[in-house]
Amino acid sequence: MKFIPYGRQHIDKGDIAAVAAVLGGDWLTQGPKIAQFEKALCAFTGARYAVAVANGTAALHIAALAAGVKPGDEVITSPITFAASANAVLYTGGKPVFADIQADTGNIDPARIEEKITRRTKAIIPVHFSGHPCEMDKISRLAKKRKLLVIEDAAHALGSEYKGGKVGNCRYCDMAILSFHPVKLITTGEGGAVLTNSRKLYEKLMLLRTHGITKDPSKLTNAGPYDGAWYHEMQTLGFNYRITDFQCALGTSQLKKLPAFLAARRRVVRFYEKELSGVPGLALPVEKSYAKSAWHLYPVRVKDAKTRKIVFDLLRTAGIGAQVHYLPVYLHPYYRRLGYKKGLCPNAERFYEGEISIPMFQDLKISETAFVARRLKKAFESLL
Ligand SMILES: Cc1ncc(COP(=O)(O)O)c(C=O)c1O
Repeated sequence: MKFIPYGRQHIDKGDIAAVAAVLGGDWLTQGPKIAQFEKALCAFTGARYAVAVANGTAALHIAALAAGVKPGDEVITSPITFAASANAVLYTGGKPVFADIQADTGNIDPARIEEKITRRTKAIIPVHFSGHPCEMDKISRLAKKRKLLVIEDAAHALGSEYKGGKVGNCRYCDMAILSFHPVKLITTGEGGAVLTNSRKLYEKLMLLRTHGITKDPSKLTNAGPYDGAWYHEMQTLGFNYRITDFQCALGTSQLKKLPAFLAARRRVVRFYEKELSGVPGLALPVEKSYAKSAWHLYPVRVKDAKTRKIVFDLLRTAGIGAQVHYLPVYLHPYYRRLGYKKGLCPNAERFYEGEISIPMFQDLKISETAFVARRLKKAFESLL
């Protein structure tokens, strides 16, 4: 039996043709495919503006900068996330503050956010873990009351819905970020985007994406009478976080298939639910009444770290690429050196100790899903 990874891209002939057409054309980068992809992202999510960038981490970085996060500012985020969500705050000189999670969804708990707000708090970065949306109405109400910006980390949640609206529509936030890494809902190889409904933030993000340089005649501040079409100005310290045209062509092609990808993931969920509900000691992921998950991950939970290790090893030995999401960010050695300590977020630590992500992607065959479920059940029998 071949190795079954926990996540994997789907690339078809249409995707390959879309990329090949760009490779044979005039624009490899800074061409028309970028805006085309951004427009498609806006049409899908309902956001007014999209800025496509090199990866999700770059998206987080420029979103934090556009939000005005400065050295000394605090930004509240979830410990159950990929390090990038918090690292983006460190890049700006700000301080990540971790608020504990809800034990069932693995998402940041609005009540715990409130306790962490201080005079230095500038923003909140909720992370829609595994694709399940956070309680955004509560988070956005808190943020409004305390004049904080909200950046949704929707790296797992393209296609998720919250209270009937698409995640990424920015109804409950100032900006939302996406990632198009191959294990995500759609892929551009590497890639990411920031979504926003604010013209002001959009303009800042566009500058930050490309060195802080503008060529837009209406924005130039120092152009003289003898300056021409060559003239451009660097107005802020930005980066080269651009994505290429061939990546965006792939992204646009992938986005057309996203509804089918989401339906396929949902079929896997239904199968896992049928096969695995009722297994003693195994908790399946939940989907709350306000939420529709894109099911980037299928995170099951067992009772403790010892059980997790036994089950995980049995799955891996059977050729099943289970994964664990996530070591709470503040427990990474780098963060510990910054002074964060074990015990900071007990729910997150418990969640981590029992979490296993089992394979979940659109091309997972029913026979593979059945094999995973069988092996998982067998692992539990061996524990009795
Ligand atoms: C929650 C979350 N945020 C941000 C990122 C960063 O995205 P990228 O890998 O595209 O830089 C990831 C990637 O794994 C992620 O899982």
